[in-house]
Amino acid sequence: QEETVSHLRPELVDFHGVSMDHFFTDNWDNVQNFQAKPDDILIATYPKAGTTWVSHMLDLLYFGKSSPKRGVSLPIFERVPFLEICISPPTGVELADKMTTSPRLIKTHLPVQLVPKSFWEQKCRIVYVARNAKDNVVSYFHFDCMDSMQPEPGDWPSYLQKFQEGKLVFGSWYDHVKGWWEKKQTYPKLLYLHYEDLAEDMERELDHVCSFLGVCPSEEERQQVKEGVQFDAMKKNRMANYSTMDGMDFKISPFMRKGKVGDWKNHFTVYQNEEFDKEYQNKMMNTTLQFRTEV
Ligand code: A3P
Repeated sequence: QEETVSHLRPELVDFHGVSMDHFFTDNWDNVQNFQAKPDDILIATYPKAGTTWVSHMLDLLYFGKSSPKRGVSLPIFERVPFLEICISPPTGVELADKMTTSPRLIKTHLPVQLVPKSFWEQKCRIVYVARNAKDNVVSYFHFDCMDSMQPEPGDWPSYLQKFQEGKLVFGSWYDHVKGWWEKKQTYPKLLYLHYEDLAEDMERELDHVCSFLGVCPSEEERQQVKEGVQFDAMKKNRMANYSTMDGMDFKISPFMRKGKVGDWKNHFTVYQNEEFDKEYQNKMMNTTLQFRTEV
């Protein structure tokens, strides 16, 4: 069975200078021509940075009160379509086009330079979530092991090497987080969140998010959002935890795996950590962007 699964796994390809696999490029013309609406909200992340967390948060903020059933009857990948995905019909673009709720919440992992131009033309609000590189790569490794739709991960040391070289789906973490950070300097409708800040103080981050989006939830609604986005609540919630998605083997690793800042310490050897830090410093020299690897 292992052989069949690994046979299904896609190859990594170079796509406009970014490592990708065909599931995210097969529908490229439709992705590039996607017609955004002015009130669309794009949730952009490098994979495993907290996409589902923030998607669920925004969905609860907007629809938790008006459609309380939504969060328990529709899986997150239907509430918040993944724009560039094209595995089996419907594609992400089709799902987004079909949405009748407003605002539409749309997820993307694209690096900033590949985002369809209509999001910029329509001046859509964008919430970017970034996570420190060490926890991000650990989370991505476990995900790639359990999701047979991702390229073969190999073992941990070689995976770490590939991360440093940008040879994972959606390319280099460094280019991704820095590219979006630069965009924020010129595009005011971009909120740049950190996973570590969300983990540290959800109350404070919720305030930031609400004031960015211009929404004023009641105390009761705020409470519902805060409870709904807790790790344990999301892990139990079948509509948030991806347990209804094909292709993922939760026996290898659940989607809601640990939800912690600092789990990298259980994976990096001392040597790997030192080598990683050196390369990290080089690659992050030209940016003001900073991360915390513990809170
Ligand atoms: P771990 O693998 O470190 O546990 P994404 O949604 O971008 O794919 O990111 C998945 C990561 O976010 C996983 O990290 C997952 O556990 C974590 N996550 C999801 N919901 C969370 C929550 N409510 N609180 C904390 N972490 C969460």
